[in-house]
Amino acid sequence: MHPKTSSILLVLCFAMACPLQVDAQFADADWPFYHGDPTASHYSELGQITKENVGQLEVAWTYHSSESLPEGRTDNQCNPIIVDGVLYGSSPDGYFFAIEAATGEEIWQYDFQGHRRSVHVRGTSYWSDGKAARLFVAINSELRALDASTGELVTGFADRGSLDLCYGLARSIEEVGRWHSTTPVTVFEDLLIVGGFTAEGYGAVPGDIRAFDARTGERAWIFKTIPEPGEYGADTWPEGARELVGSANSWAGFAVDVERGMLFAPTGSAAFDFYGAERLGQNLFANCVIALDIRTGKRIWHYQIVHHDLWDRDVPAQPNLITVMHGGKRIDAVAQITKHGYVFVLDRETGEPLFPVEERPVPQSVVGEDKAWPTQPIPLKPPPFTRTELSEAGLSDILPGTRAYTKMAMQSMRYEGNFTPFSNKAPTILFPGTIGGGNWGGAAVDPKNGMLYVNANEAASFISLVTMVDAPNLSPYQQGRNVYARRCSACHGMNRMGGNHMGYTPPLLNLETHMTREQVLDIFRNGKGRMEAQRGLMHDPEDVAMLLTFLFENPPAGQEHISDPGEDGQLIYAHSGYNQFLDQNGYPANKPPWGTLNAIDLNEGTIKWQVTLGEYAELKERGVPPTGTENWGGPILTASGLIFIAAAADDKIRAFDQDTGEVLWEGDLPTAGFATPSTYAVNGRQYVVIASGGGKVSRPTSSAFVAFALPE
Ligand code: HEC
Repeated sequence: MHPKTSSILLVLCFAMACPLQVDAQFADADWPFYHGDPTASHYSELGQITKENVGQLEVAWTYHSSESLPEGRTDNQCNPIIVDGVLYGSSPDGYFFAIEAATGEEIWQYDFQGHRRSVHVRGTSYWSDGKAARLFVAINSELRALDASTGELVTGFADRGSLDLCYGLARSIEEVGRWHSTTPVTVFEDLLIVGGFTAEGYGAVPGDIRAFDARTGERAWIFKTIPEPGEYGADTWPEGARELVGSANSWAGFAVDVERGMLFAPTGSAAFDFYGAERLGQNLFANCVIALDIRTGKRIWHYQIVHHDLWDRDVPAQPNLITVMHGGKRIDAVAQITKHGYVFVLDRETGEPLFPVEERPVPQSVVGEDKAWPTQPIPLKPPPFTRTELSEAGLSDILPGTRAYTKMAMQSMRYEGNFTPFSNKAPTILFPGTIGGGNWGGAAVDPKNGMLYVNANEAASFISLVTMVDAPNLSPYQQGRNVYARRCSACHGMNRMGGNHMGYTPPLLNLETHMTREQVLDIFRNGKGRMEAQRGLMHDPEDVAMLLTFLFENPPAGQEHISDPGEDGQLIYAHSGYNQFLDQNGYPANKPPWGTLNAIDLNEGTIKWQVTLGEYAELKERGVPPTGTENWGGPILTASGLIFIAAAADDKIRAFDQDTGEVLWEGDLPTAGFATPSTYAVNGRQYVVIASGGGKVSRPTSSAFVAFALPE
């Protein structure tokens, strides 16, 4: 039975106490969409696994999508889909596969050649017209159609089975820099709705939302997230912005109200992310929830969550469609979690907030010509699900010496509270940091009672703006200085004098007096003491060579100072990396909790409970109370009141009691499950499956998918 059909039955059954309820709980049920269903509910009506028996869960099967993963592969963020007892998924190294969902036995595997170095692929999408069934898979900018039953390319789709998603973007691929598909495309009738990831620097392409025909690959419509001159919203940008500015892309996936024919799209910030003099204004439709007519791409309403974003506060997750009780009435709503820890609850038809939202004055820009927007919207209800300000009293003191260290570090940084624009004079604190708050794992909602469940990170970052020279013919020394600005200056200072905001950091002037190039290369490869290995840098030998030129050689005449960009050159602002604000042991510098799971009542606008998510074994051994860990991926909810979530950096999957937040079960994984689980039933047996991919937060990588079920 299709889960939506059975959940409708189930709701009827609750009302009428009919015998079908039992059947629905044990019926075969699919998980046919990324995050469960078109509304991104993360919810299943299955209830065979209950609060009483969840403790008996055992591993039903483990599937490895690759025999061994090559070095340095990324994490696995796949949320597998299950249709008619077949599970479809993606591996972290460029394979897609179909397996028997009951046994993990492989049916087919597809090698997506030519695209090994992909960014994140979060799964696949299933389309069927009742006769043929296609699986849509994408890596980088290429979307391919596979026959769902054989895994063979469907050559009738687009260009011999493949659609170049860069084609038809506002700028050519040479200018675009990057455009990647990340979250699987959304299927609605015969349409594939496509968002994606763009570069986040200067010259990035506008992140338009597009729909393509699932049979032919032809474009059906486009919604321009950065409007053309004269279009609605164009007056929130300087003239000609669409030619200059990019991003405002929708990378986290969509939610669909099938009955109303409405698509809800979250969008990211405009690029360049951290400095916006080129894009003065409110910047519609960046950082919005946009409601579109799904058949035409026409805007119905939009709601902007951050104005003129200067902090990379992308709206990072699919909106959740939910029905809430408000003022005594049932109201269909859209709930949007954010990176800065808020939930915006909007009327689904009008986009009007259901709880008051205040426009609060925020700190103003201090660099160049940029102008931060004077106010930002803050919902008065529900309360934020993370802390939103960091003070000295909020600094960590978990171990001896931690407080002294983090206090010294904080004193060397700038911070005027939430929404402090960044500066090129000193690093600026951002809290919660660049990873959120909420993120792409999204939230689970309960269709019965207006509850939303979301996991969160609570760790600060610091960001510095750096000045770089941009010119057509930069010397190796100047290019090396640019590499240094981006990769090293946050800790060693733009002037190479060292600093103390990451504890003591040594100066890097006159390096040749006490180090050789080979020794420095060795530090890049292996790290040294508190400095981590520079893996990202080592992927780019040209950057390494130019950086060494800058570090070891004298500047050519006229290029001594960054303020000498040369005749054709100009100065631009960039940033020096996404730095986490950590203590001397590598834990977040703010007080725990660092990872949480939260239950939020969207009827009342209150937080019902909040618990830590995950543990660091080393801290547990030292007697530190549970801190929660950095976490990636989201929760799911079943009708039996269980929340299943892995996400934490401790290689566990857990079941929480929906009502109390109590942990009822923990299962061991090969490595951390930085993904969202799926649940489904085959032959009357319910399974919970998770991609256990590690690959972040120092967890080893794996290509395992692990399914749990009750003993047969
Ligand atoms: C996150 C902060 C951070 C970043 C980013 C960073 N470093 Fe370091 N670096 C340090 C710290 C801390 C040390 C001291 C390590 C120790 O001895 O414990 C260090 C040490 C060094 C040393 C050894 C210096 C000496 O005199 O012993 C070199 C060389 C160096 N870094 C170069 C670089 C370069 C080049 C980059 C950019 C590619 C870079 N670092 C990026 C924090 C950083």
